Amino acid sequence: MAAEPAAPTGNRVGVVHYRGRFGQRMNAWRKRTPLNPYWLDWKHLRDSVEAMLPHATGNLLDVGVSEGPYRDLYSPKVRQYVGLEYPQAILDKQPDMWKIANLKRLVQVFGDGARLPVLDGSIDTVLSTEVLEHVPEPRALVHEMARVLKPGGKLLLTVPFIQPLHELPSDYFRFTPSSLRVFAESAGLEVESITPRGNFASANGAMLSQWLTRSVGASKRQSDGSVILSPWRSVLLLPLTALIQIVFHLASKLSNDQAVCQGYALVARRPLVNELPR
Ligand SMILES: C[S@@+](CC[C@H](N)C(=O)[O-])C[C@H]1O[C@@H](n2cnc3c(N)ncnc32)[C@H](O)[C@@H]1O
Repeated sequence: MAAEPAAPTGNRVGVVHYRGRFGQRMNAWRKRTPLNPYWLDWKHLRDSVEAMLPHATGNLLDVGVSEGPYRDLYSPKVRQYVGLEYPQAILDKQPDMWKIANLKRLVQVFGDGARLPVLDGSIDTVLSTEVLEHVPEPRALVHEMARVLKPGGKLLLTVPFIQPLHELPSDYFRFTPSSLRVFAESAGLEVESITPRGNFASANGAMLSQWLTRSVGASKRQSDGSVILSPWRSVLLLPLTALIQIVFHLASKLSNDQAVCQGYALVARRPLVNELPR
């Protein structure tokens, strides 16, 4: 297990930043409503992580936990919730995490997901949300997550399909269902389901809302792909992005075309008797 790093300095990461306490509080509230220009993305991801909840049991390892957006959701379902973060990945990109007094509540283990500091066959549930695109060798990460699963244990994974670049320069891939199947099966896992989140309509609504926010509402673009919003321009835009998201959300209810979607959720199981490929 890697030593706990010292607090670094730098800019916050994220696709959109809000300056100041008031802005951050507003953002927390807006996140759950169409007044968040990223609501369509947030909602579909949240729904898709929630749909995997029945598979969670025993001890859960959240690889790339960040601020643990699903800890409250999963904790009541599992015996132990262990968050793992890779210091190298967050040192430059999410320095605010290091300022949070209760960091230890968020991250229990520091290490690289590609070389998990965890014993073979010791974990009942591995959860990893929107992390696979950030490692240069995603197949190796899936193999590593399979290694630590107990026989019968489950891997619960979400990945993006249509998403803007983020956390640059560490944004390497987007995934299709076939790639997820190959990763899981070559790691010796049995795929139980691969489920798209959103569809053509919701993905387009999400992109239109984000594009307007980035092109009209932003006062500054950052090198990690995120933007800093101009407070007055972004507030003026909110009714429009809210309307766009509501309209496309309703349209998505009428459409079943998932040739384009916002991402995928994989549920895979380590068989009870199996030799994992080396
Ligand atoms: C887009 S964020 C997702 C965070 C969180 N899982 C969520 O759903 O909000 C990607 C996360 O992957 C982490 N990460 C990147 N490379 C990693 C690695 N090699 N091992 C473990 N985590 C890694 C980053 O630090 C970051 O917190």
